[in-house]
Amino acid sequence: MTTALPARATLPGRFVVLGVAGGIAAYKAVEVCRQLVESGAHVAPVLTDAAQRFVGPLTFSALASEPARVDLFDAPEPIPHTTLGRRADLVVVAPATATLLAKYAAGIGDDLLSATLLATRAPVLLAPAMHTEMWEHPAVRANVDELTERGVHFVGPTAGALAGRDEGPGRLADPDLIVDAAGRVLAEGHDLAGVRVLVTAGGTREPIDPVRFVGNRSSGKMGHAVADAAARRGAQVTLVTTTARPAAPAVARVAVETAEEMADAVLDRFADSDVVVMAAAVADFRPKVAATDKLKKHDGVPELVLEATPDILAALGQRRRDQILVGFAAETNELHEHAAAKLAAKHLDFVVANDVSEPDAGFEVDTNRAVLLDSDGSIEELPLLPKTVLAGLVLDRIRDRLTERRPQERDQ
Ligand code: CTP
Repeated sequence: MTTALPARATLPGRFVVLGVAGGIAAYKAVEVCRQLVESGAHVAPVLTDAAQRFVGPLTFSALASEPARVDLFDAPEPIPHTTLGRRADLVVVAPATATLLAKYAAGIGDDLLSATLLATRAPVLLAPAMHTEMWEHPAVRANVDELTERGVHFVGPTAGALAGRDEGPGRLADPDLIVDAAGRVLAEGHDLAGVRVLVTAGGTREPIDPVRFVGNRSSGKMGHAVADAAARRGAQVTLVTTTARPAAPAVARVAVETAEEMADAVLDRFADSDVVVMAAAVADFRPKVAATDKLKKHDGVPELVLEATPDILAALGQRRRDQILVGFAAETNELHEHAAAKLAAKHLDFVVANDVSEPDAGFEVDTNRAVLLDSDGSIEELPLLPKTVLAGLVLDRIRDRLTERRPQERDQ
């Protein structure tokens, strides 16, 4: 949690779209609606066709802050999905069925709820509910992973009694938990408001010829996780990335390929940034000469002569004014020593160090086991965490440092 306030204290006055998809747990969404209203939120319910087979719109209209909407074409306003999407501070879907997850992951907006999910820039909280076999199906898992990566929040499901006397994971989280999670997501949404964050992601590719390059195994997952999480927390985020991975809609994406291009993109934007997080795996060496035409086999094995690339972070460390600089250290041995040396040599605030020879940490995987080194001398060893969670912890540190440096501004 990023606030000392109870999560629900962040709900009063906030516009919450409550989506209800078609599952037996739809009846519990009535209680979610009631509790959201009781906590002070302005609640606009949206029901899918299937949801209405389980519970009627009238029930929601009676409890919510405005009448339930059920139709993309027959709502009080002409373009209800964009109206709702723009007004929303938060979209909660309870229950979120397998179909709803699939549509949202695939970008299908063929009814009011799925179209609202695509049209909004507000944070989204999904409370899935379905039978265990469905929840565990690889297609559903893939959709959940995809949505998590895009920054969608999840609460539940929990394990317990399911419809048809089944038992197992897939039960809708309790309404209390859903409403608490809604408050937490809203609390999270603001602690980096207005902060200009520049993030780099992915491994650079240094051309040998037009088809070959010298590269590394970085997938860009860590940098993208930081960028998406920062945008969700209200930061103005620019992501300089070498990957084709999608970023959250609010993130300004700059595509680069080489260390040189990344250096130009970052240095150009440095003066207008408050925070730089260099999560990219920048190649340290590149071919001295890149052939303009494809090297042919019959010309023999080429001899690659390498030269050093610019060290972007070291250059930022030299030029920094009051920016916060965060580096990553990918090591295979003597993690603490090497990471501490980078912290000092590049004049950084934090280094997120990890042993990339560990199977669950580092390149290509979704998890990381990191050590956070702070320029104040403190060292925090973190457990194995999803990269999305690690991103949140790094941003917590950044927020705390910003608050220490600019208490008068951040208190406003
Ligand atoms: N970095 C950079 N420019 C480079 C190389 C690295 O900005 N040319 C940044 C990385 O983005 C990372 C930090 O510096 O945030 C440390 O990168 P890492 O590869 O771990 O270390 P190096 O400084 O390159 O040193 P070495 O490869 O010798 O460990």
